[in-house]
Amino acid sequence: MPILTLDLPQGGYPIRIEAGALKRPEILQAGVAERRRVAIVTNDVVGPLYLAPVLAAFARHDPLVITLPDGEAQKTLSTIDTIVDRLLGAHCDRQTTLIALGGGVVGDITGFTASVYQRGVPFIQIPTTLLAQVDSSVGGKTGVNHVRGKNMIGTFYQPVSVIIDPDTLATLPPRERAAGLAEVIKYGALGDAEFFAWLEAHMASLVALDGASLAFAIERSCRAKAAVVMADEREAGVRALLNFGHTFGHAIETGAGYGNWLHGEAVGVGMLMAADLSVRLGLLAPPAAARLQALVAAAGLPTVPPPLSAASFLELMAVDKKAQGGRIRFVLLHGLGSAEVTADVPMPALSATLARFGIS
Ligand SMILES: NC(=O)c1ccc[n+]([C@@H]2O[C@H](COP(=O)([O-])OP(=O)(O)OC[C@H]3O[C@@H](n4cnc5c(N)ncnc54)[C@H](O)[C@@H]3O)[C@@H](O)[C@H]2O)c1
Ligand SMILES: [Zn+2]
Repeated sequence: MPILTLDLPQGGYPIRIEAGALKRPEILQAGVAERRRVAIVTNDVVGPLYLAPVLAAFARHDPLVITLPDGEAQKTLSTIDTIVDRLLGAHCDRQTTLIALGGGVVGDITGFTASVYQRGVPFIQIPTTLLAQVDSSVGGKTGVNHVRGKNMIGTFYQPVSVIIDPDTLATLPPRERAAGLAEVIKYGALGDAEFFAWLEAHMASLVALDGASLAFAIERSCRAKAAVVMADEREAGVRALLNFGHTFGHAIETGAGYGNWLHGEAVGVGMLMAADLSVRLGLLAPPAAARLQALVAAAGLPTVPPPLSAASFLELMAVDKKAQGGRIRFVLLHGLGSAEVTADVPMPALSATLARFGIS
């Protein structure tokens, strides 16, 4: 099974993808020195399912377990304070390794804590959702939300390793799995035509949780993300391509009201809207947009946005614009497997895309 390496100037780290990894103590222990303390952060959904083997693997590391309530609502500074309190209370020193066992929420919280606890301690990502396995656990973005905005407090802080066990996806609710598939499709659409074609041929096996197909799709996605992060760790350039589908997607996610649409569901429709816009601007051939539409549908994802007015949709996209200093930036497709970032989108084309998706 593959071990990818994410190389950065400050050092590299392995991303290990292996079915059954959670049941193999030697894989989990790799990189944690003898007798060093570990603190495992998980939540009350993932803990009952997957904590036992991780705890057993670290039995000789005096493991501290911190179990958070489930949900995005936990991504706050107050949770960080609670975790720090537990770490200090248990006398965890600077040699302690934090282990994130859960989805992107647990990963973002744990990574952020690791980056600030006593000025930084090592941490390991053990992602258990598809989204976390192909996206959030790789690349070193950590953070929590502020009442004024999502992910507004955070750091770039790389883990010492990422351990991915695709078997954990068996317990993930189908809706969450489909949401993760949106990000997988994203990698094919924006940069890897061959992978896109592979996904077209294997989407049914992915939806049916075929182990070999899942492992391949996760590996290819992690490779794509790692390549972009290695080229542009802090999102000064190409990393922005990973936002394909996200400008429209964020508007859908927020417009629908947080919690009603999963992030990946919104990104799925967002990619279709971005493809439609690309067709209108003469960049993408209509059959390519149709293939994307068919793939998103085959993943079990929605293909139409929630009913929103054009005015509110544009306003929601402008929130992204403010975050990026001036103009709304779109990632557009030149073909399946090739993308570019642009802020030059004429309003009539944008309005036509919104109208085509029932937003007027
Ligand atoms: N750091 C990054 O680069 C980055 C990138 C994308 C998203 N994110 C963040 O990731 C978060 C979303 O992550 P997510 O989609 O994994 O959501 P999540 O962590 O909330 O997990 C989704 C749900 O699945 C449950 N769960 C997790 N693993 C399970 C399993 N194996 N079986 C059954 N249930 C399981 C969780 O408890 C939760 O209820 C957001 O906060 C987002 O901002 C970060
Ligand atoms: Zn995303």
